[in-house]
Amino acid sequence: MRPQSKLRVLIDREEISKTVARLAFEINRDYRGKEPLLIGLLKGSFVFMADLIRQLDLPMEIDFVAVSSYGSAKETSGKVKMVQGLRTRIRGRDVLVVEDIVDTGLSMSFLLAYLGKKKPASLKLCALTHKPSRCQIPVSIDYLGLTVPDEFIVGYGLDFNERFRHLPDICVLEREK
Ligand code: PRP
Repeated sequence: MRPQSKLRVLIDREEISKTVARLAFEINRDYRGKEPLLIGLLKGSFVFMADLIRQLDLPMEIDFVAVSSYGSAKETSGKVKMVQGLRTRIRGRDVLVVEDIVDTGLSMSFLLAYLGKKKPASLKLCALTHKPSRCQIPVSIDYLGLTVPDEFIVGYGLDFNERFRHLPDICVLEREK
């Protein structure tokens, strides 16, 4: 028989909303007088990016890139590759990367190195969640939402096999035997 999946709410929509508001406050304060370029890492960041930018009171632009390390698996393959590169020139720009989760740190360390080579004026990271227990490559997060435990989470952009991204809460995906 196929194992059933069960969802348990870990971070509800109210807590997500308060967290996004706090991060937007910090970004508004720190980028006052600047015109940042926000770069979202697809696909997971798209919901967070959409909510975050609507609380920014700054002139700004957005772009998206995609890297891949998980494929359709729950565990990272350890090899990160660029799937969709930048369409915006970032040399001399204040770049803020927007990410849904920093887990092992492999995707983000790869992306930050890729962007850093293009000589932005500044390069910072805003991550909604961080799972420090799984860290393989430490990544410095300038704007951190919430630390999450070592459980497989879905919702608010995060998926398992491309499913569950639409959930408004962040949930733990529990597999029943
Ligand atoms: C997920 C997530 C992060 C990354 C974090 O993306 O959205 O980008 O993994 O994991 P890491 O810190 O271990 O590298 P995924 O590669 O599953 O693609 P997706 O964003 O399209 O879901």
